[in-house]
Amino acid sequence: MLSKKEIIEILKSNNDDVLKQADAIRKEYVGDEVHLRGLIEFSNICKRECKYCGLQCSNKTLERYRMEKNEILLYAKRAVDMGYKTIVLQSGEDEHYKTDYMCEIISEIKKLDVALTLSIGEKSFEEFKAFKDAGADRYLIRIETTDKELYKKMHPHANFENRKKCLEDLKTLGYEVGTGCLVGLPGQTTESLANDILFFKDIDADMVGIGPFISHPQTPLKDAQNGSFELALKVMALTRILLKNINIPATTAMETLNPNGRIIALQSGANVVMPNVTASEYRKKYELYPNKICIHENGDKCRHCIENKIKSIGRTISTEQGFRKK
Ligand code: 5AD
Ligand code: FES
Repeated sequence: MLSKKEIIEILKSNNDDVLKQADAIRKEYVGDEVHLRGLIEFSNICKRECKYCGLQCSNKTLERYRMEKNEILLYAKRAVDMGYKTIVLQSGEDEHYKTDYMCEIISEIKKLDVALTLSIGEKSFEEFKAFKDAGADRYLIRIETTDKELYKKMHPHANFENRKKCLEDLKTLGYEVGTGCLVGLPGQTTESLANDILFFKDIDADMVGIGPFISHPQTPLKDAQNGSFELALKVMALTRILLKNINIPATTAMETLNPNGRIIALQSGANVVMPNVTASEYRKKYELYPNKICIHENGDKCRHCIENKIKSIGRTISTEQGFRKK
């Protein structure tokens, strides 16, 4: 166990031994297998106004889309045919998908014999329960930052305590719970990043996704500096060192800032990749930040590309659903 002071020192130092240590712990606790999760970004419509995010409702230049049930199921089936053992459904906070409708989609996907992860924002305990009863296995809600002042600045009309409560509710309901943070938000301190890491440990997160902040031209943070790839990598490595057996994705944002970002992440503590399985027309519209990778590719292309990259570093693709190793 590292103290907060030690974590801060590591984050501030130029020494990156921590990446190698995280790689060793990853190997010891979760092995050489990489879990691939097939990501379906099914709606880019969002009622929220997160300052950093290109999907925020005040971005009027973005062309919006929403897939209905049949189209989501089509992509889910294709993903299963490509060999994915987990489907991740992600969207903006789009109120079009009422609880019953979402439950129908969930139970149809579960008939395909895959693990299902939801990443659709803050919901009530009852909604989370309905999704769980319909078959959802996992849920992702990044806390984004545990610095309450910064959280407030970044998320107008949102509430930090409610977000935390969502994570608690999900745990209570028996989900595998994923969270994570942005690295390099304007005004974010090293101490607050250390607090983020300790928060992941404190809530015993099953999955943690970490990515650098990337400035989006159609947001209020258009003039802010991008986060640092190296710092995001270190936050991720420290998370592996502290939480040991959890699942950690090599994030798309990391590869956006470094052309080999996901492979470097897989060699610094990560053991999961989440390739997109939808068509190119949708990918370019799911613009959380600019220069997102793979927006001109299709599902098959990404599957093969990432498989080859993973094999080239001596790792293997898991054929299991990839729950947290206990
Ligand atoms: N840069 C990096 N990551 C971002 N996200 C949203 N906007 C940005 C951005 N500008 C991340 C958030 C969210 C996830 C889906 O995408 O952390 O939880
Ligand atoms: Fe999409 Fe490499 S993962 S092209």
